[in-house]
Amino acid sequence: MSEVLFLALRRWGASAKSDIRTLTTCRAVVLPRFGGPEVLQVRDDSILPDLGASDVLVRTHAVGVNPLDMRMREGYGRSLFEPLLPLVLGRDVSGEVTAVGSNVRQLLVGDQVFGALHPTATRGTYSDYAILGEEQLAPKPESLSHTDAAAIPFASLTAWRALRSTAKIQKGQKVLIMGGGGAVGLAAIALAKAAGCYVACTCGKRSMEKVKEAGAEEAVDYTSPNVKGEFQDRFDVVLDTIGVPETETTGISLLLRGGQYMTLQGQTVTFTDKYGLIVGGAAAAVALLQKQMQYKQSHGIDYWWPIMRTDAEGLEEICRLASDGRLKIPVGLTFPLEMAAEAHRARDSKNAGGKVVLKVDV
Ligand SMILES: NC(=O)c1ccc[n+]([C@@H]2O[C@H](COP(=O)([O-])OP(=O)(O)OC[C@H]3O[C@@H](n4cnc5c(N)ncnc54)[C@H](OP(=O)(O)O)[C@@H]3O)[C@@H](O)[C@H]2O)c1
Repeated sequence: MSEVLFLALRRWGASAKSDIRTLTTCRAVVLPRFGGPEVLQVRDDSILPDLGASDVLVRTHAVGVNPLDMRMREGYGRSLFEPLLPLVLGRDVSGEVTAVGSNVRQLLVGDQVFGALHPTATRGTYSDYAILGEEQLAPKPESLSHTDAAAIPFASLTAWRALRSTAKIQKGQKVLIMGGGGAVGLAAIALAKAAGCYVACTCGKRSMEKVKEAGAEEAVDYTSPNVKGEFQDRFDVVLDTIGVPETETTGISLLLRGGQYMTLQGQTVTFTDKYGLIVGGAAAAVALLQKQMQYKQSHGIDYWWPIMRTDAEGLEEICRLASDGRLKIPVGLTFPLEMAAEAHRARDSKNAGGKVVLKVDV
């Protein structure tokens, strides 16, 4: 194993006094094979890769647990991740900058930051130290604890990707969020409100208060026998975080002609897991095109499979809204990092009452 050397700039050092520090391994929760929560292992010797020129080393304080982590643990994305086992899961992080690469311009050692990795990142954040690109991090809102901050970035950047980058929502548009009570849903409500849209959503009974507090003008219980009939008007944009056939049918039927439907359950990974990266990738592109043509013809709408992407502008806006208290993703349960398996069980039970967050002893 080659030794990792990185440049650590001291925050207050006169003329940017620099230290060379060495760190090659650290504690992490590792996935040695796909399976249930019991396969997760805490190891003290997880290899920390070299810090790239635009990378930032973060001493992790808290890590949000996302549905993607659970699905990757079970083998989702195996076409990409199986050759890379053992993996470190985790996309979200909140913590302190401990070292920066030579091209990092904005962040300094000692900064308190939060951010998220891209879905395909190969080393995750369930670890004492995480490496992210500078553009994947922003200063943590001062009003938030690391635990609260770690619940926000991945879900919110997914909502940003769908509403702002894909649908390009405009002031005055009517937006429907299906699954408004989840982490992505709550962030989507906040982002759509901030853009000046009228926002409606579907959610469970237990989430009614939460979605209203987040700014939704209308909320319909998804267990209602006639969800479609509960809405008076049609929408310009539908973001379907659930993405099962029933929600897709309902969501599309609630759109105005010229509207946009986005499901977060795109089939690209399902295809690549089944047929391999190249053939599966091509098959997914064809399947998406077929759907797009079908719905254009039948309903006159655009159809998308947005995927979370890191986005510096998005993270800046998310940080601003979270600082103002306009974007909140409530934390339901916390666990120490070494109890990641328990945290996954709690998420699987769907009774966490909010985001599950891993806390790291620092
Ligand atoms: N494409 C991407 O890049 C991407 C990125 C992030 C997430 N995702 C996916 O997006 C989904 C949501 O993620 P999340 O982080 O928001 O998960 P989450 O916090 O666990 O939220 C899921 C929510 O779904 C709600 N729900 C379940 N069935 C519903 C239905 N039929 N109608 C309306 N709401 C329903 C539940 O609401 P109640 O609590 O109100 O019952 C729950 O709060 C996950 O499947 C995840 O894999 C995709």
